[in-house]
This record gives sequence, structure tokens and C-alpha cells, in this order.
Amino acid sequence: MSAQILDGKAMSESLRKEIAAGVESLRECTGVVPGLAVILAGNDPASEIYVRNKGNGCRETGMYSVTVKLPGDVTQETLEAEIDRLNGDERIHGILVQLPLPEHLDEARALARILPEKDVDGFHLLNAGRLMTGGDGVIPCTPRGALHMIRQTGMDLNGKEAVVIGRSNIVGKPMAMLLLRENCTVTVCHSRTKDLPSVTRRADILVSAVGKPGFVTADMVKPGAVVIDVGISRVDGKVRGDVDFDGVKEVAGWITPVPGGVGRMTITMLLQNTLEAAKKAARK
Ligand code: GUN
Repeated sequence: MSAQILDGKAMSESLRKEIAAGVESLRECTGVVPGLAVILAGNDPASEIYVRNKGNGCRETGMYSVTVKLPGDVTQETLEAEIDRLNGDERIHGILVQLPLPEHLDEARALARILPEKDVDGFHLLNAGRLMTGGDGVIPCTPRGALHMIRQTGMDLNGKEAVVIGRSNIVGKPMAMLLLRENCTVTVCHSRTKDLPSVTRRADILVSAVGKPGFVTADMVKPGAVVIDVGISRVDGKVRGDVDFDGVKEVAGWITPVPGGVGRMTITMLLQNTLEAAKKAARK
């Protein structure tokens, strides 16, 4: 039996239509146009592509967007001065500092400088804390997109075994928190986990975010499981996920492809977070 494909492209298209309608209705009712600012320091080619896609997403949904390009040797002070300026700009409801920053810059300090209500990445400590304690904070885009895809299976998540491979602040940890909020029994695995296949084979929902192409093989997957592949690696010029798609699709019940899976959803959720931030600002 072959798994059903969770199509991130189709899901994104339908969500972006809803977001565009939300943008239009906010503009009509309040005159507010949601605005996103992306700060890019340096000229990492992969980051430049992501940033361009974010700008395209804004245009597609009727949002205002600006990209602030800073040189690779920008100082921490200049970076933070840009963040302060955008914090004070009424046209901007969401600020995103593209990661990774050049090595000499302090990422944590930069992220802490963004006003929590403009932190559309959900990386500010206050938003991370709200996610952990059940408050109404901004949810990081990739885990939010992954959860949306899991929900599309129609599976009742209560009491399900969920296993997350990877413990990053951007994906693994917030993903685990979101699944916990859905009443899953959550296990977080990482590079020191002993006998990983014996853990992953328990998973009704398996999320992999390690960035190792083909890392999750069919023998690691429970028959019928929902398999969410967050990995994006480049192999011989091609984009590959963490999951050995051809093998795993014969065992899993649902699977996300790479490309065309979770990656597509990340920017869509960024647009959703920006719209929600603009709505909150308009209510004030
Ligand atoms: N770099 C790769 N993914 C992300 C993301 O989701 N947000 C930011 N700010 N930088 C990234």
C-alpha cells in the first residue's frame, strides 16, 4: 500500500487565498495593510532565495513588504538600530531577521530586540515562553505549517504517540510543544538517542528535522504513520528531505514530499502570522 501524499503546494495555495481575503477585508474595515520587513545580513545564496520568496508571498496576498539588506560585516549596533527603526514603523507589523546571521553577530540579542508583537517568526523568548506555558503567542512558522498538515489527515491526535527527531529552537522544540498541546504523547529524539529506530517505530506521528538526506528509512516507520519531513538538503543540485521517500511511502499512511511539502507551508504561515499581527495592531 502506498501512503497518501500531504501536498504542501495545494494546502498553501488554498491558505494563501484565505490570507489574501483576510488582508483585503482588514484593509476595507480599518485601512490597515499588513506589512512585513525582512532583514538580511550578508549574501548567503540560500538566504537570498528564501527572502525573495517571502517578498513574493507578500505581493501575492496583498501585503506590504520591505527587505533591509545589510552588508556581511555589519555591526551588532547597526543591526539593532535597524530593528529599533522597524519596531517604531507603523506600516510594519512583522519583522524577521533571516538566520543564520554572519558569525560575528549575536543572534539571541538581535531576536530579543524585536518587539514580541512584531516577532512573526515566534523566536522571541516571550513567544517561546507563551508556547511552553499555553499562552496566546506567535507560533514559529515551520512547526505551525507541519501541524496544519498533520491536521489535514483528519486523525484524532488525542493520546497519539508523536516522535520528533531534532531539538532545534526553530523546529524540534516548538514542534514538540505544539504536539503536546494537541494531547499527543511526545518524545524528542536527537543525535545522542539510543536505538532511534525502536523509538521512531512507536510513532503514530513522526516528524523529522535533522537535515540529513534519506536519514529516516522504511524500517524506522510504524505502518500507517503520519510522516512529516522537515529536512531540506541539497544533493547534486537537487533538494532532498530527511526521509527516504520511495521506501517510506510503502509503509506510512501519510507522507509529505520534499520539495512541495512542509517547506511550502513555512512562508504561508509567516504570512498568516503577519496578518494576525496586523489584526492585533489594528484593534489597538
Ligand atoms: N532561516 C531558515 N529558516 C528560517 C526561519 O524560519 N526564520 C528565519 N528568521 N530564518 C530562517
